[in-house]
Amino acid sequence: MIEETSLELDNFFATMQNPYPAYAYLREHYPVYWNPMFNCFTLTRYDDVNMVFSDHKRFSSDVWSRAPEMFGFGSDDSSGQYLKQIIPFLAYNLQGMDPPGHTRQRTLMMKTFTPRMIEAFRPTVQKLVDELIDQRLAEGSMDLVADLAYPLPSNVILDLLSIPRSGRPYIRASSEAINEFVATILFTGPQVWPRLAGVFADVTAYLKSLIAERRTHPGEDLLTKMALAEENGDMLSEDEIVIATNFLLFAGHETTANLIGVGSYNLLQNPEQLAQLRDDPTKIPAAVEELLRYVSPVHMLARRSLQEVTMRGVTIPQDSSIYLLVGAANRDPEKFPDPERLDINRPAARSLGFGYGIHFCIGAALARLESQVAFETIIRRLPDLRLVGDTPVFRPNYSLRGLVSLPVGFG
Ligand code: HEM
Repeated sequence: MIEETSLELDNFFATMQNPYPAYAYLREHYPVYWNPMFNCFTLTRYDDVNMVFSDHKRFSSDVWSRAPEMFGFGSDDSSGQYLKQIIPFLAYNLQGMDPPGHTRQRTLMMKTFTPRMIEAFRPTVQKLVDELIDQRLAEGSMDLVADLAYPLPSNVILDLLSIPRSGRPYIRASSEAINEFVATILFTGPQVWPRLAGVFADVTAYLKSLIAERRTHPGEDLLTKMALAEENGDMLSEDEIVIATNFLLFAGHETTANLIGVGSYNLLQNPEQLAQLRDDPTKIPAAVEELLRYVSPVHMLARRSLQEVTMRGVTIPQDSSIYLLVGAANRDPEKFPDPERLDINRPAARSLGFGYGIHFCIGAALARLESQVAFETIIRRLPDLRLVGDTPVFRPNYSLRGLVSLPVGFG
């Protein structure tokens, strides 16, 4: 029995280091909880989060398109103008859309993101992991987050898109700008918008010229495939490709970095599990699935109720914000017995780590590939891997939960 008095249930940021006791309390006592601090309902049980993922007719993913009006900005004031330039990058990427727009764009995107294309990329991923490890091997120590987990996924995506070295800073900057916008909207707000709007204008101009080039000189890369993807005569527009390219980096970067970074930390804290992987690397794919559940790199997602809904006796009015606490759902004892234990031999049960339903992660195969290659190479090439320094600190990002750094020693 957990004591409520010692728990912080409302302020997500106060529990960044260890949100799990609060999750357990909410799951048991208030599975559908009104959070007055963030003006949202939170869901913590697996079945409830899974149900919302499955029901896009009642629960919308469009949480951004009306933001300018919601924040009280009109198109005639300057802040409203900047907001109008920023919002499309959040509202018109796949994750922020509902059918039919979502269905159309996803069908075209799925034509480019084929399992065969991803698997063919395995040798490139292996090369990138080896290069990052080589850079630190002789030193006998590294920051596993800054030196490996963080640079790997962004290099993989930018290589997949075949973005020249000179253009990479534009895309990195605009992907980070999404993060900055979301993180600061409640605090600094309009102050940073002119700069962020400038970042999005730069990436748009850069990518439009690259798209035009790929349309005339097609390559084998993902950007060419998006530029040429067609379904019944329908194609992605230039603006859609710019937003999608930017979002691929955003969606595939910190998420995968967090799985590798926090996943390595959890393996190091469970040496008997790490030893099993060393003895039998064929267990690595199962370990990645268990780490996905245990870590929940995408820790929280938002939906908006399109009608009044009653869940577990709680009435959620139409147009409410609903936060799906994926990290809590993935540790629901009703679904995963002994959920707080990391167990790479756990019988397979679908976690919600990649979501579910129409928005199920389109990068799942790529994320699995990158994490499997990373863990296999870390275990093979870094003997006696050990934690050094103090308890690592989590970044103040509640949706994408990851470590600031993870100093390790080896050899
Ligand atoms: C461990 C790494 C990853 C995790 C945990 C993860 C998790 C998720 C989750 C939970 C969703 C569902 C969002 C929702 O329902 O609102 C999602 C969607 C998405 N992910 Fe991932 N993701 C990862 C890696 C990637 C990668 C590598 C890419 C691409 C390069 C990617 C691209 C996307 C896209 C485009 C969507 C939106 C799909 C849609 O709305 O139809 N993700 N991801």
